[in-house]
Amino acid sequence: MKINPIRSICCIGAGYVGGPTMAVIADRCPDIDVTVVDLNEERISAWNDSDLNNLPVYEPGLDLVVSRARGRNLFFSNQVKESISSADLVFISVNTPTKQKGLGAGQASDLRWVEACARQVATCAKGHTVVVEKSTLPVRTAAAIKAILAIPQRQYLNSEVAPTFSVLSNPEFLAEGTAINDLENPDRVLIGGEDPEAVNALAAIYQNWVAPEKILRTKLWSSELSKLAANAFLAQRISSINSVAALCEETGADVREVALAIGTDSRIGPKFLNAGPGFGGSCFQKDILNLVYLCHHFGLPEVASYWEQVVELNTWQQKRIARLLVQKLFGTVTGKKIAILGFAFKADTNDTREAPAIRISLDLLEEGAQLAIHDPKVSPNQIALELSHLPSNLDPGLKGEGTWHPSKSVETALEGADAVLILTEWEEYRDLDWLRLSRLMRAPAWVFDARSVVDPEKVASAGLMLWRVGEGSD
Ligand code: UDX
Ligand code: ADP
Repeated sequence: MKINPIRSICCIGAGYVGGPTMAVIADRCPDIDVTVVDLNEERISAWNDSDLNNLPVYEPGLDLVVSRARGRNLFFSNQVKESISSADLVFISVNTPTKQKGLGAGQASDLRWVEACARQVATCAKGHTVVVEKSTLPVRTAAAIKAILAIPQRQYLNSEVAPTFSVLSNPEFLAEGTAINDLENPDRVLIGGEDPEAVNALAAIYQNWVAPEKILRTKLWSSELSKLAANAFLAQRISSINSVAALCEETGADVREVALAIGTDSRIGPKFLNAGPGFGGSCFQKDILNLVYLCHHFGLPEVASYWEQVVELNTWQQKRIARLLVQKLFGTVTGKKIAILGFAFKADTNDTREAPAIRISLDLLEEGAQLAIHDPKVSPNQIALELSHLPSNLDPGLKGEGTWHPSKSVETALEGADAVLILTEWEEYRDLDWLRLSRLMRAPAWVFDARSVVDPEKVASAGLMLWRVGEGSD
C-alpha cells in the first residue's frame, strides 16, 4: 500500500522513553506534528509546566530540546482518542513491567497496557495508520498487536472507510542520563517490519538527522529479539565484571586495573566494564527475564539458565555489599547511622526503578540501621515509594528498628554517621572534602565506595577506613 509521508505522530506513553524520544523527533522534524499522550494527568501537566525544572523526567539537555519544540510542533495531552484519530503514525511507548502474578509471573512482561493501547488504536484510528512498537516487548508481541488491529470494529462493519494498519518494531536504545545524545547521535536505528512502504515512511523521519547507513531494516522478529539480546549482552558484561570484582577483593587484585587490561583488547572494548553495586534500571532485569521466559517457552532450558545466572549474580552482588558493610561495622548496624549517597539507579537521572539502592537499603533497614539518604534528583516521596516504608526521624536509640530519613545535603547525611555508602556515581560525590566530612562522622568511620568515585588517598589521609568495590588488599 502506498503510504504518504508522515505529517502527524501520536505517541502513547509520556514516560522516560516516550517523552525524550518524541521531543527529539519534534525538534529535528519541524514539519511533523508530534503529540505525546498519557492517561496520567499529573504527568502531562508536568510536561506542560512553564518551569522546565519541573519536567517529569530529569535528563541532561532535555529542557532545551523541549523549550525549542513545545507549542510549535510538540504537544503533551490527555486527549488520547483524538490524538490517535488524527495521527498518520502511532508509537506505543507504555510501561511493560515484569508480571507479578499468574502465568509467567516473575519473568514474562505484563502486556496489559500494550494490549489496551492496541485496542484503543483499533477503535480510534482513521485511514491508514502505521503502528510502531517502541516499548521493549517480548518477541512476537507485534503479532498480538496485529491480531487486535485486525478485529473488525463495529462502527466500520460493511464500510469502505475502515482503517488499515501496518505494524513495525522500532526499539529504543537510549540509556537514561545520556538520552538526548543517544537520540541525536544513535549508533543505529532499528526498524523491523514486513511492509516496505511503512518501513520507508518511518525511516524517512529518522533520516532528517540520522545517516541512512545507520538505519537498519530487519524482519519484525529480528528487531524485537535484537533489543532483548542487546540488553542481555550489556547486563552480562556488568555481571561478568562484578564477578571478577569479588575475586579481586579476595585475591588482592584491583578490578579497575583488570578492567583496563581486558578492555584494551579491541575485541572486548573498554565500555561497560565498571564494577559497581549491580545494574538497575527498568530494562536489564526485565529484558533478561523475558528472554529466560521465552527460552523456557521454546524448550531451551539450558539457554534459559545461562541468562538467568546474569540476574542472579546481580542480586548476589547487591546482597554481598549490604552484608559486608554489616560485617565491617563489627557485625551489627543496629541503631547505627549510615549515610546512603545516591538512590537513582545511575547518575544523571531521577529514575529509581530496580535501583541497587533499594535492595541494599532494605537489607540494612532489616538489620536495624538508621539510614540518611541523599540524592540530588530523587524526591523523598519516590524513596518512600520504593522502600514501602515511610521516613521517620533518626532515632539514636537501640530499639532495633531500621528507619530512614531524607537528607538535603551530603553534610547532614554524614553528621554522626558510622559509615557512608556511595551507590550512585553523581559527579558531586567525586570530589568531596573528606577531611572536613570526617570530622562530622563517628570514629572509626567507614567509606564504602560501590562506584569507585572517591580518591582513596584523600579518604585515607582524612583518617577514614575505605572499602572500594573490587579492591583487594595485599
Ligand atoms: C539500558 C541500555 O543501555 C539501553 O540501550 C536500553 O535502551 C535501556 O537499558 P539504561 O538502563 O538507561 O539503558 O542505563 P545503562 O547506562 O545501560 O545502565 C544500566 C545499569 O548498569 C545502571 O544501573 C548502571 O549503573 C549499571 N552499569 C552500567 C554498571 O554497573 N557498570 C557499567 O559499566 C555500566
Ligand atoms: P518507559 O520507561 O518505558 O517510558 P514509563 O513507566 O516511564 O515507561 O512510562 C510509560 C507511560 O505510559 C506512563 O506514564 C503511563 O501512564 C502511560 N500509559 C500506560 N498505559 C497507557 C494507555 N493505555 N494510554 C495512555 N498512556 C498509558
